[in-house]
Amino acid sequence: MSIIRIMGCMAGGVVMVASAQNKDKVLAQFEGDTYGEWTIEGKAFGTGPAKGTLPGQMKVSGYVGKGFVNSFSGGDGATGTLTSPLFTIDRKHISFLIGGGGWKEKTCMNLLVDGKVVRNAEGPNVVPGGSETLDLASWDVADLFGKKAQIQIVDVATGGWGHINVDQIVACDTPPPAPQRNVTREVTADKRWLLLPVKNGGQKCKVEVRSGAEVLRFFDIELAEGEPDWWAPLDAGAWQGKKLTLWADKLAAGSKGLENVRLADEDIPKAGLYEEPLRPQLHFSPRRGWNNDPNGLVFFNGEYHLFFQHNPYGTGWGNMHWGHAVSKDLVQWTEVDEALYPDALGPMFSGSAVVDHANTSGFGKDGKAPLVLIYTAAGNPATQCLAYSLDGRTFTKYAGNPVVQNITGGNRDPKVIWHAPTGRWIMALYVGRPEKLHTVELLASPNLLEWTTVSVVQGDKGGGHYLYECPDLFELPVAGSVEKRWVLFGADGQYAVGAFDGTTFKPESERLKGHCGTAYYAAQTFDNAPGGRRILITWLQAPSPGMPFNQCVGIPQELGLSHTSGGVRMTRRPVLELKALRERSVPFGPSDLAAGGKRPLADVEAELVELRVACELTPDAEVTLDLRGVPGRFEAGKQELTIAKHKTAWPVKEGRLELIVYVDRTCVEIFSQDGLHYAPVAAIPDAAKKTVTLAVEKGSAKGVQGEAHALRSCWK
Ligand code: FRU
Repeated sequence: MSIIRIMGCMAGGVVMVASAQNKDKVLAQFEGDTYGEWTIEGKAFGTGPAKGTLPGQMKVSGYVGKGFVNSFSGGDGATGTLTSPLFTIDRKHISFLIGGGGWKEKTCMNLLVDGKVVRNAEGPNVVPGGSETLDLASWDVADLFGKKAQIQIVDVATGGWGHINVDQIVACDTPPPAPQRNVTREVTADKRWLLLPVKNGGQKCKVEVRSGAEVLRFFDIELAEGEPDWWAPLDAGAWQGKKLTLWADKLAAGSKGLENVRLADEDIPKAGLYEEPLRPQLHFSPRRGWNNDPNGLVFFNGEYHLFFQHNPYGTGWGNMHWGHAVSKDLVQWTEVDEALYPDALGPMFSGSAVVDHANTSGFGKDGKAPLVLIYTAAGNPATQCLAYSLDGRTFTKYAGNPVVQNITGGNRDPKVIWHAPTGRWIMALYVGRPEKLHTVELLASPNLLEWTTVSVVQGDKGGGHYLYECPDLFELPVAGSVEKRWVLFGADGQYAVGAFDGTTFKPESERLKGHCGTAYYAAQTFDNAPGGRRILITWLQAPSPGMPFNQCVGIPQELGLSHTSGGVRMTRRPVLELKALRERSVPFGPSDLAAGGKRPLADVEAELVELRVACELTPDAEVTLDLRGVPGRFEAGKQELTIAKHKTAWPVKEGRLELIVYVDRTCVEIFSQDGLHYAPVAAIPDAAKKTVTLAVEKGSAKGVQGEAHALRSCWK
């Protein structure tokens, strides 16, 4: 469309009037599948406009419509140019949206007249982190009136932020009002909470809370210009009675966002909390904001601690803090105060926690063992740091941070364990080496403070994700034997089984698939769990659209190892503690179902369901499940399970299908009863449907039996 307009004005020889106010003219809005008559050189721009964020890119926002120029095609390494046909300058300004890399003359947009650059602009970013938001900018081109010109978008940068994003190029006489820069407001912290108005999808601006020259908090936020979708609480408890300066940059023109920030005694009204329509009821999610990875999973002083990657100020990824929740039983979680805030070393990326029983770190006091958090400060460069606590509620960052200097550009997600046989701490650290070589470096320390690399586990080059981010390393017994094995996994769940002598991990298997769903990423296991249990919680990538929070974590699972014909494999089973959620349990069967037969499982009407079902299928059998409107299908011949739109291999032995299914408001999690298969899938059941049904479409199902449990909410 855009391209057609630009062409129209050139081919049609638009009559130019250098008069008062002409209507704005869109030069390019990149909504088509191709760039039309723009000339593409190199690979960076792909074959046409991007329709959103590209694989491996942080979430892009701020573009108009569906399409925009995004030179991340082929990643940061690709280069190229994109050049418009000639057009005539017939307005006083050219406005546009621009984002991505801020490398002068390398990731930029130029205005060319007679082939010479007469105006230029680049994106905002040159350091890791930053934001993929496109911002408004404009050129005053009044002095070029009547000239023939071209727009050229350039990406000749190949390192970090080696890409440029552009959209909505408009010729106009009055440029759109520029965002407000450096706006300030003074407040006195006379109440504990600062409440910040948020509009999901609104224009992002930068906000700081300052005391004099000291920056106490800093973050990006979609500050609502008027009526907010929700209020993001910021704890001002530490600065009571003080004068604070609220500072905002790039606040939308005319926005009341900063004026509307208010102080309150309460952070979040209790009424309606945890009852929101898309609030998961069996899974933990933060009260407000976004979560991704679970962090610092640990049992300390009688409580399970779940820290998590948290954006307290938006429902998308960003501003990484460590949020914090505690539980006595892994079922009911209480969210407590934010544990780690971004600081001068960077945002708080993922990491782990240990109980330092022998006080090797010296952080303990009066015989109390400290809880130690080991995390990535994702500044430039990223480093590994410590924080500690004696009460499990308040955290002090170690004054000697960082404890591990940057190894290469990308290193993050330290997972620390105590290795008793060698009497030292071992850290598994993700290290991304050049050319996308993913490795896990193993470091050792006597005291958590000083670390030495002891070995490197080589990963894949290129696309493979085994060992990409969030490693975890632990030992497990093999069921039914006296054997033990070590397991090393990465963020996508792929794992290797092997041996670890305190220095080197030796895999005995090829990398193995850890799950067969879609919504699983960056899982972690608990340190110090009672009874030596190995309990895992994953980030469950299940969105809650339109809510003041987004995403959740998976139900806790107990890990084990089993001998199979293919070798030793990891098993996952929902923790037994979840039985506490069963409100009403109805056993059913055994009964036989022929083709056309249907069985409501059982006469249970429930919104939240746990279903355990087993049956013997004929080799040609096809059975379907209706999980409150979320469709499921198992094809015995192909040994394939489909849940919602996701199809996966699901091998069964001798036609015996044995499933454990959890149905929540934003997801379905399915386990095989032998623990060898696990499929978490994001799906929103039909709010009006409260039944779960099994039907046989082909073949037959014998001895259909099990239990259906109506569950209560874990928040009550
Ligand atoms: C995995 C991850 C980690 C990183 C964190 C940042 O989802 O990318 O590698 O520490 O998220 O939020």
